[in-house]
Amino acid sequence: MSDPSGEMPQVLDLALRLAHAAGTLQRSRYETVLAIGTKSAPVDLVTEVDRDCERLIVAELAVARPEDAVVAEEGSGTDRRDADWRWIVDPLDGTVNYAHGYPRFCVSIGVERHGIRSVGVVHDPLLHETFHAMRGGGAFLNGRPIRVSEEDALGRGLFATGFAYDVHRSQDDNLARWAAFVKSARAVRRDGSAALDLCYVACGRLEGYWEQKLHAWDVAAGQLLVEEAGGRCSDFSGGPVSADGDPIVASNGRVHEQMLALLRSARR
Ligand code: IPD
Ligand code: CA
Ligand code: CA
Repeated sequence: MSDPSGEMPQVLDLALRLAHAAGTLQRSRYETVLAIGTKSAPVDLVTEVDRDCERLIVAELAVARPEDAVVAEEGSGTDRRDADWRWIVDPLDGTVNYAHGYPRFCVSIGVERHGIRSVGVVHDPLLHETFHAMRGGGAFLNGRPIRVSEEDALGRGLFATGFAYDVHRSQDDNLARWAAFVKSARAVRRDGSAALDLCYVACGRLEGYWEQKLHAWDVAAGQLLVEEAGGRCSDFSGGPVSADGDPIVASNGRVHEQMLALLRSARR
């Protein structure tokens, strides 16, 4: 593991602690009556728990690492161009699930050093599953090393995707791609948490995942998990994933080119 700063283990410990604290809050308020608002569209929800988890994480970071930049989905972080470390936080990934009492959501914390994704933590508080990775140090689930699957045929693979919050009004809606995978793969899931979808590729539960119109906080941790577990992440043409994670194709590596070909063949 290359860690010229020597700080990576401390950053990981803090990310784990914050993810567990936010996860405890999510678990304690799960299936309770919540204040729920909307953001970019009527289907784009935000609950009081999204905001409370973010408040908790941002406040702790301000005390523990005041020099670091923080980009957090609900907007309460302070980005700083000159910071060495940047925390990229999705305080609750899977908000629609959470609001409906559907048990699939998590907290996702990715940390970059000088723009390079270095630490990733994704915590599922209901299943008590914590995924973590450090660049060059491998990927882990509850402390045990994980690897991507060895399946090399898309037709025998299980895949996941998601649909952006503009799906009701946009023509670029992922439906043709979804149909192409339904017709070609063993099965396709839409389970509502991009960060967990990526972690499931990392630990071999899924062969691959793709999505467009994501944001950096959706992928900052999960992308590192996939890469450290031996998988591959790219954009739809096989090039590097952009900093904001839009679009992303993540796989076990073996089915990656088959995924790219299928995505290319599907009309928009
Ligand atoms: C969403 C989830 C979902 C994905 C959406 C994301 P949120 O994040 O990850 O699976 O399809 O594109 O925006 O809003 O629950 O943090
Ligand atoms: Ca998200
Ligand atoms: Ca979120």
